[in-house]
Amino acid sequence: MEHDAHAEAPPPQHVPPTEDATVDDWAREDAEPMTVDSGAPEEGVDEAAPDAAAAADAAPAPPAEGVKEIQSSLQSLELKTNVAAHEDAHEVEDEAGEQKRHLNVVFIGHVDAGKSTAGGQILFLSGQVDDRTIQKYEKEAKDKSRESWYMAYIMDTNEEERAKGKTVEVGRAHFETEHTRFTILDAPGHKSYVPNMISGASQADIGVLVISARKGEFETGYEKGGQTREHVLLAKTLGVAKLVVVINKMDEPTVKWSKERYDEIESKMIPFLKSSGYNVKKDVQFLPISGLLGANMKTRMDKSICSWWDGPCLFEVLDQIEVPLRDPKGPVRMPIIDKYKDMGTVVMGKIESGTIREGDSLLIMPNKSHVKVIGVSLDEKKVRRAGPAENVRVKLSGVEEEDIMTGFVLSSVANPVGAVTEFNAQLQILELLDNAIFTAGYKAVLHIHSVVEECEIVELIEEIDMKKRKDADPKKKKPKRKPLFVKNGAVVVCRIQVNNLICIENFSDFPQLGRFTLRTEGKTVAVGKVVAVPPAGSLTF
Ligand code: GTP
Ligand code: MG
Repeated sequence: MEHDAHAEAPPPQHVPPTEDATVDDWAREDAEPMTVDSGAPEEGVDEAAPDAAAAADAAPAPPAEGVKEIQSSLQSLELKTNVAAHEDAHEVEDEAGEQKRHLNVVFIGHVDAGKSTAGGQILFLSGQVDDRTIQKYEKEAKDKSRESWYMAYIMDTNEEERAKGKTVEVGRAHFETEHTRFTILDAPGHKSYVPNMISGASQADIGVLVISARKGEFETGYEKGGQTREHVLLAKTLGVAKLVVVINKMDEPTVKWSKERYDEIESKMIPFLKSSGYNVKKDVQFLPISGLLGANMKTRMDKSICSWWDGPCLFEVLDQIEVPLRDPKGPVRMPIIDKYKDMGTVVMGKIESGTIREGDSLLIMPNKSHVKVIGVSLDEKKVRRAGPAENVRVKLSGVEEEDIMTGFVLSSVANPVGAVTEFNAQLQILELLDNAIFTAGYKAVLHIHSVVEECEIVELIEEIDMKKRKDADPKKKKPKRKPLFVKNGAVVVCRIQVNNLICIENFSDFPQLGRFTLRTEGKTVAVGKVVAVPPAGSLTF
């Protein structure tokens, strides 16, 4: 869940910590720098709580809460209905080329590490919060005997969050650096709200992992039961390609900008990040900050505060970060997260591949409905086209709102997304309920892009020995030994079935449509990636 246009928090769900597992092979080898392509900042696309849509079966889902709000805000939006195709594509491309790129950045880390404080400080430093508001927050925080929490109040906007000092819903805010427009997604650190963190991380391109350097706090966050490890593992699985690790609270009296403390934390984090699948040299950058004081954030470190840090500040690192390319010229893939009627049918979602333009003919899968794009908008702004990573609203003709469900995918006609009822996956088992064993017949709820479906594991195909770092080979038909069961921490290739058609892709082709979590009774029991789908046109193997 997210807020900045307020949404209701889902009931807290307890998610157990992950085991000390390794997933070296989750990394994408094909990472390339992202080209600059974008539109206006997005906001307000509230996702339903992961489990709320769990019964996504035969009947179309009723409109999610908050849709009315969006509807009314959209009523003022004049969506152009007469199609101005792509007369001057070159001109449009040039226009877009001059715009800043857009990245979604999720703030993750253990509870109280300082994510909201750092996020609030970023907004303050980028001039979006005036001194008067800060003074008001200072007073409010003081009245609640939470003096130091005023910066976090910028991101933590609801009463419960402010009273308890804990983020519940994913906070959303925007800021810009020289070359990049950022959407900040401030995830909650508390383990009860891991589903909200999953929803934030699944929209993010990069992550800022906030770690508290305060005596005892790094240790609690890092140990088994802390969220530092669980968040890193989930972020990697959910496609957060790069991590900026900020070692925060460096100003704190138990730290006093100690280089030894910084080095200690960095040296403990590196092996863990490697074992989680991050290439530490290419994908991870460390830096010290004080979110509360704003040190080493917008401007480089003041030497009188910390003499030993010569590296860049947070804004510089974020501005220069290179993320894997999502192909603006690739086939269109936009998982639908919501839909409503507004003189036509409007669908909402994030474009994961390709470009959607006014006038385009597209397919809604798995129903194969032929539709025509009669309007595209980012925020309140009408645009002629939108590319990968943008959260958009697309107005369509040729389909009724009732015939679309959350989890359907808007895709190109020439190269549509496949629709299947089974697939092979490589799973990392995190923690099974009551230490159950994982066998054929295991049932769970599958969360893959905006799809939420009951699923069953029908066959275990091969257990992967992570020590040998052997990856799953989807082409291998007859593995030597099929395991009958596996336990916590295992990595296993298995076949998964669902009752309804779902649109998914191999992780290696479209990572955003090929990675998923399995949840049982509100707990994340496994994370996985799709390694094989049935041949084109078939629902099963
Ligand atoms: P959750 O949302 O509950 O996961 O916490 P969070 O990571 O958002 O932490 P938050 O920003 O709410 O800060 C937690 C506490 O740490 C507050 O008391 C902050 O004032 C304090 N804090 C955050 N950053 C710093 C810092 O740089 N220095 C010091 N000294 N305290 C900090
Ligand atoms: Mg917070």
